Amino acid sequence: MAKASRAFVCQACGAVTSRWAGKCASCGEWNSIIEEAAPSGSPSLIAIKGGKGRLTALETLGTATREAPRLPTGIAELDRVLGGGLVPGSAVLVGGDPGIGKSTLLLQAAAALVSSGAHAVYLSGEEAPAQIRMRAARLGLAEAPVALGAETNIANIVATLGSAAAPALIVIDSVQTLWSDSMEAAPGTISQLRACASALIAHAKASGSALILIGHVTKDGQIAGPKVIEHMVDTVLSFEALSGHQFRILRAVKNRFGPTEEIGVFEMREQGLKEVANPSALFLSDREQGAPGTAVFAGMEGTRPLLVEIQALVAPSSLGTPRRAVVGWDPNRLAMLLAVLEARCGVRLGTHDVYLNVAGGLRLNEPAADLAAAAALISSMSATPAPDDTVYFGEVSLTGAVRTVSHVDQRLKEAAKLGFTRAVVPAAAREGKREAKEIGIVPVSQLEELVALFSLPQA
Ligand code: TYD
Ligand code: MG
Repeated sequence: MAKASRAFVCQACGAVTSRWAGKCASCGEWNSIIEEAAPSGSPSLIAIKGGKGRLTALETLGTATREAPRLPTGIAELDRVLGGGLVPGSAVLVGGDPGIGKSTLLLQAAAALVSSGAHAVYLSGEEAPAQIRMRAARLGLAEAPVALGAETNIANIVATLGSAAAPALIVIDSVQTLWSDSMEAAPGTISQLRACASALIAHAKASGSALILIGHVTKDGQIAGPKVIEHMVDTVLSFEALSGHQFRILRAVKNRFGPTEEIGVFEMREQGLKEVANPSALFLSDREQGAPGTAVFAGMEGTRPLLVEIQALVAPSSLGTPRRAVVGWDPNRLAMLLAVLEARCGVRLGTHDVYLNVAGGLRLNEPAADLAAAAALISSMSATPAPDDTVYFGEVSLTGAVRTVSHVDQRLKEAAKLGFTRAVVPAAAREGKREAKEIGIVPVSQLEELVALFSLPQA
C-alpha cells in the first residue's frame, strides 16, 4: 500500500497544494489552508489497477422516459422551490447562515411528510433528541412520529439507515458535523466532508430515500466547505433572510429536477416558519401612498408574479462626482438607465446624487424593472408622485426604446388582484390575448413617453 502523504487543502475552495501558505492561490481566501492526509494513489491509477470491470448497460436517450416521481413534503413553498416535491433517491443541500431557520424548516418538512403516512428520519449532530423534541413541542409537532437520532459518525449512520426499511426522507443536520473514523483528517475538514457526503448520497441513491443535507454558510456567503459538495448533490437550496425582516426566502441555486428561478417565502413566527402564500401583498404592505420617488414594479420571480416598490431619491449634489447608491438592484443597470435618461430624454442628472432602493430587502435581477426604476427616478426628480393605482414594467434599451418582456398577462393579473387599475407597459405588450380586462393600459414605446407622464421642471 502506498504511504499516505500529507497535502494542504484549502477549506474554502478545496484546492490542494504541497506546501502551506497563508493565502490560497486559487481562491484568494486567507488562513483557509489546513494539512490533511492525501488519499493514497490517484483515482485514475486505482481504476486501472482494479483490472477487469463490470459491464455497464448503455441506453439511448429515448429509452423508457419516465417523469421523476415526486414526493410532496406538504409545505407548498418548499415543494415549489424543489420543482414539485422531493425526488426519491435524490440529494438536496440546504445552505444558510446559522440561526436562519434551517433546522426549523426541515423539522417542519419531516413532520408534514410523516403526517401523510410516509416515514422520515431526522439525524442531528448539533442538538440532542431532547432539544429537538422541545423545538418540536414549540412548533406544535410533538405528536409527529419523526424518527430522531443524534449521531455524527458516518459508519453508524449508514448502518442505522440500512438496518430498517428505507425511509422516504433522511435529514442530516448538519453535514459539517459528520466524520468518518477511517480517515485521518479532523472532523469538519474538506476530506471528511466529501467522504461522508458521498457515502450518504450513495446510500440514498441505492435505497431510494430522498436525502436532505443541511450546511452552514460562512460570513462571505459561501457554504463553508459544503461548497465543495455542491457538485455531488442534485439540488442546492439557499435559505436567506430579507435584511431587517422576519421574512425568509428559500431559493434554488442549482436543480437537476426543476427550474432555479423559483423562490419560496416564509415568515419566522413564535410557532416556527409560516408560509407566505401572497408575497406581493407583503412587499407592498408598508407602502407610503402619494410620496414622490416611488413606483410599483410588476415583476416575476420564477413562475410567480411579485409586486414590489422601487424607491428613488434624486437630490442636488455638493460633490464633484455625484453619488450613485443602489440597494437590491444592479448598479450597472442604474448607470445605463441614467445615461439613457440623459442622452435620449434630456433629463439632466449629472449634478444630482441618485439613490435607488428596492423595498422589503428583495433583490431584483429582471431587466423588466427598468421602466419602474425610471418612473421612480423621474418621479423623485420632478417631485411628482406616481399615481398610487399604477404599476410599471418594461425593459429600456440604450436607444431609449421600451421593449416588451415575458409573462405580460400574469403581471397584469397580479396587479389587478391587488387593486391596481392602471399599468404602464411596453407598447408591444398590448398585443396578444389579454385576460385582465379590469386594468387600464398605458402603452409606451419610448422612454420619453414615460417622462411626459410626469411634469418635469424645464432644464
Ligand atoms: P434554527 O432552525 O435553529 O436555525 P439554523 O438551524 O438555521 O441554525 O432557528 C433558530 C432561530 O429561529 C432562533 O434564533 C429562534 C428562531 N425561532 C423562532 O423565532 N420561532 C420558532 O418557532 C423557532 C423554532 C425558532
Ligand atoms: Mg440548526
